[in-house]
Amino acid sequence: MKQQIIRCTNIEKDLAQFISDLSYDGLFLLTDENTHKLCLPLIESVPEIRTAKQIIIPAGDENKNIRSLSMVWEFLSQNGANRKSLLINLGGGMLTDLGGFAAATFKRGIRFINIPTTLLGAVDAAVGGKTGINFKGLKNEIGAFAPALAVLIDSNFFKTLDATNLLSGYAEMLKHALLNSEQELNEILRFDLENPDYQKLNSLLFESVLVKERIVTKDPTEQGIRKALNLGHTFGHAFESFSYEIKRPVPHGYAVAWGTVCELYLSLVKLGFDKDDWMKVARFVKAHYGVFAFDCTHYQRLYELMQHDKKNETTTINFSLLKKIGEIEINQTANQQEIDETLDFFREYFGL
Ligand code: GLY
Repeated sequence: MKQQIIRCTNIEKDLAQFISDLSYDGLFLLTDENTHKLCLPLIESVPEIRTAKQIIIPAGDENKNIRSLSMVWEFLSQNGANRKSLLINLGGGMLTDLGGFAAATFKRGIRFINIPTTLLGAVDAAVGGKTGINFKGLKNEIGAFAPALAVLIDSNFFKTLDATNLLSGYAEMLKHALLNSEQELNEILRFDLENPDYQKLNSLLFESVLVKERIVTKDPTEQGIRKALNLGHTFGHAFESFSYEIKRPVPHGYAVAWGTVCELYLSLVKLGFDKDDWMKVARFVKAHYGVFAFDCTHYQRLYELMQHDKKNETTTINFSLLKKIGEIEINQTANQQEIDETLDFFREYFGL
């Protein structure tokens, strides 16, 4: 599984160049209502894009479903797509996941290119070959591992992102830095998120994507080391689901940021992760992501949500933790008491 990751300096030129080097029979462009309006103009001058057959699906994670997927299959089928056709996915994580899965399954697989238009999409969803849709209320229940031919990354798309969406993606960059090196972590913590320098962001993002790519190359189908990418996500998914239950939804990346603070605390307790390193990450998260309010009456529900996470088959919960920055220990476990203690510590630090 190898996908080319292209760090764009000029998306129109880079895309035109990449496509002109390929041979294909039929070019298709998938957007959602938002990316059609806001992002397509950035690549529209590419001659191939102007003549590509365009499929537009409804935006939003609630539309990452079999209906939208079926729309894509139908369009491809009715417009003469064949095994040699090429699909370009222009959008955030929802779009690249769904488009990738449509491509992976249409006539048993056609090639596709991802152009992520959100930071979260660029740093996570678009890279690494996980494709799929939600099904019967379960996220990413149906899917396939299928790498894009290439992922073209250009931070110019992120200039229109609001601060919340920028921060949401940035949490995954924080995670990748923790998995990689102290130097990368310090750069991530130093970056001025209030006045982003998009060129600098592009290079930080590219470094970050390469961390993921290196891990995925070693373990494309998540049998082992790819589980490292779940750092922060066991607590994070529980916070995210819980926030929906109590009708105070939080963005994915925010939940991951808080989850990372919790899982680094578990790393500290169980594997001796450095306290100062924990502190500098916790301080950063508190300053930028604020607090997620809950009290001890919610612990049981948070624990149950962690148990329901597909990675856990027993009463202990599985985690990917860190011995130190860049030193990953997968298949770690914690029991309910340790999880409660972590939640206590989290609440104390965040002043809840
Ligand atoms: N989002 C984690 C992974 O791609 O494995």
